[in-house]
Amino acid sequence: MLGNGVDQFIDLGSGLPTADHVHHVAGDARVVYVDMDSETVEDAGMILHSVPDAAAIRADIQQPGEILAHTETRRLIDTGRPVGILAIGILDFLPPPRTAIAPLTGLRNAFERDVYVAATLLTDQPPLDPDQLGLAAALLLRAIATPITARPPGTLRAWLGESGFQEAEYGSIPERQEEPLPAAETFIGRGGAIPPG
Ligand SMILES: C[S@@+](CC[C@H](N)C(=O)[O-])C[C@H]1O[C@@H](n2cnc3c(N)ncnc32)[C@H](O)[C@@H]1O
Repeated sequence: MLGNGVDQFIDLGSGLPTADHVHHVAGDARVVYVDMDSETVEDAGMILHSVPDAAAIRADIQQPGEILAHTETRRLIDTGRPVGILAIGILDFLPPPRTAIAPLTGLRNAFERDVYVAATLLTDQPPLDPDQLGLAAALLLRAIATPITARPPGTLRAWLGESGFQEAEYGSIPERQEEPLPAAETFIGRGGAIPPG
């Protein structure tokens, strides 16, 4: 995305922006971190207090209008410029029958220029076997208060396609965990600018 001139990002379900988060990796880019957990957002605010070009806001990703209307989003994100939307390890939290289509379409439609997206989604094939999970992954899944849902392979591509994104090769989403984790799909792509009128 950086290679395509993207210098502003919205990170959905960001968690804590600690090591190697977007504002570290993307240098001078402006970043809005979005999470609905108040404690996470408060702690993130402390981490970012000396980073003028990044902010953490409390919002539900299912309310794209709220994200876009937030004062910090309006301060940092220019809807007339290309943007990168990151949805890493978050879409699994959407409870069925909810999908990512409305949230991602809502965000995409707000921008006049290209919208790039990188997203992941847990898949239910092969089925999740708790005995096969590494200790860290098992503890993480148990500690998460909001249930997560693994979905059939192909779901992420279908969601992103219906939200107006075309898959493209802009790189890959690196595997960070060394322990075995549930299977996941990734999607990196771009939604074209909406023709005027
Ligand atoms: C697995 S964690 C962080 C993932 C992070 N993107 C990463 O790559 O490390 C998922 C985060 O999503 C947040 N979350 C869950 N459902 C959400 C929602 N509907 N809207 C916003 N944040 C949500 C949780 O509070 C949690 O901090």
